[in-house]
Amino acid sequence: MINKKQKRSLKTEILLRLSIPLIFFISIESVLSYFVTLHHVDVAYDRWLLDSARSLTQEIKAQEGKVFVELPPAALEIFKWDESDKTYFKIISEEKGMLAGDKFVPEPFDIETDWSRPVYFDDEMYGEPVRVVSMLITPEHSSEKVFVHVAETLNKRRNMMMDILLADLVPQMTLVLLAGIYLVVGVKRGLQPLHALTDEIAQRSSRDLRPIPEQHVFLEVRALTDTINDLLERLGSAIATQQRFIANAAHQLRTPLAGLKLQVERAQREQDLPAMKPALMQIQGCADRMSHLTTQLLILARSEPIDGAYELRPVDLCKLTKETCMDWVPKALQRHMELSFEGLEQPVHVRGDEVLLRELLANLLDNAICYGHDQGNIIVKIESYPSTRLSVEDDGSGIPEIEMDKVFERFYRIPGSPGDGCGLGLAIVKEIADLHKARLELSSATATGGTRIELVFKES
Ligand SMILES: Nc1ncnc2c1ncn2[C@@H]1O[C@H](COP(=O)(O)OP(=O)(O)O)[C@@H](O)[C@H]1O
Ligand SMILES: [Mg+2]
Repeated sequence: MINKKQKRSLKTEILLRLSIPLIFFISIESVLSYFVTLHHVDVAYDRWLLDSARSLTQEIKAQEGKVFVELPPAALEIFKWDESDKTYFKIISEEKGMLAGDKFVPEPFDIETDWSRPVYFDDEMYGEPVRVVSMLITPEHSSEKVFVHVAETLNKRRNMMMDILLADLVPQMTLVLLAGIYLVVGVKRGLQPLHALTDEIAQRSSRDLRPIPEQHVFLEVRALTDTINDLLERLGSAIATQQRFIANAAHQLRTPLAGLKLQVERAQREQDLPAMKPALMQIQGCADRMSHLTTQLLILARSEPIDGAYELRPVDLCKLTKETCMDWVPKALQRHMELSFEGLEQPVHVRGDEVLLRELLANLLDNAICYGHDQGNIIVKIESYPSTRLSVEDDGSGIPEIEMDKVFERFYRIPGSPGDGCGLGLAIVKEIADLHKARLELSSATATGGTRIELVFKES
């Protein structure tokens, strides 16, 4: 299931990460290019403005020390002629004041203006923004200072700015648009194999545990599919084990059930109670076997935690072993066996599950009593050095070396074994030992025979 809280998709994430810096850089570039263009447009038109001012200064004459301006209408026309902008001028003599032009033309306010060069500034005139150039000249044959101010509206400059910016921005925007479309399509196409993979997994039946095929899968996704494949494999083998177990269990239950049915039919054919008795005895035996088998199966199922984690708590192994041995003494006595316990004075703690550990020991004692000799000896021992270990030893006929691996398999019994066991005892012992991460060692107790099974706990 897709986590509903995680709304942002991988596609959005990639697109955001690519487009945000793209938009950011393009914005910065646009702002920079605006100011650079503005500067260059100003430099170009300021030069023209200065030319206009210089052409005006040609008309300032001096005669006998007196300064005057001679502006023929044609010259004035040429000066003012412009398609888009209005041009104003003002010529002021330091002594005589206004010589010609429009008195509203702005002048530089700054008293400390450096008049050795033309002065440019922005201002307003008749409510319109204007660019002004002011210069100071001293006409020939005169010592009088004359100021020339020329103002021009900004239409030309603005048009030029617009032209340049449009020529710059339109291709840029087209580029962004194209790059955007390419990104969206590219990311979508790039992620296509992931969708294909999702579809392939979604369409599977719950029984289909085949590994995900590796073709069309990116290297980055490979790690994920490998993990999933690994999980599928483990799941597959767990399911196979379960199925084998269920099949075996069903098979094992079928035999006593068939016996039970047979005996019940036999009992039903008899008329009086004494005649029924043998059948009833058989029924009781069958029921006992089934009850034992069911218990064993349930214990096996219990020792197989689904999630692989089992809660282990500190358990006093000495106390637990002693108590279990006490429970088994009567059964040992039935076969005139001696069951002895060699423990330690102080408690020996291991991390474990008490119920399962009792079951483990019960199975070992059951085997020792069942397969040991009459009047034999069973020794249960606990040692804490070099590591915690629990051993059960008998002096029976022992387990032949070639059977030693097989006896731990489920439902395996050595052919011809006495008793009515179902071959699950040692499988349970092994399962419980594994759960406690303890090592199981099976060996001959003595040179002449006997069985010794030892459980070695890991240091905790
Ligand atoms: N202490 C023992 N001495 C001799 N043989 C044993 C001993 N314990 C187990 N075995 C052999 O191992 C087989 C498997 O034991 P187990 O798994 O407990 O199954 P079950 O006791 O139900 O047959 C037994 O059938 C028996 O032949
Ligand atoms: Mg057994």
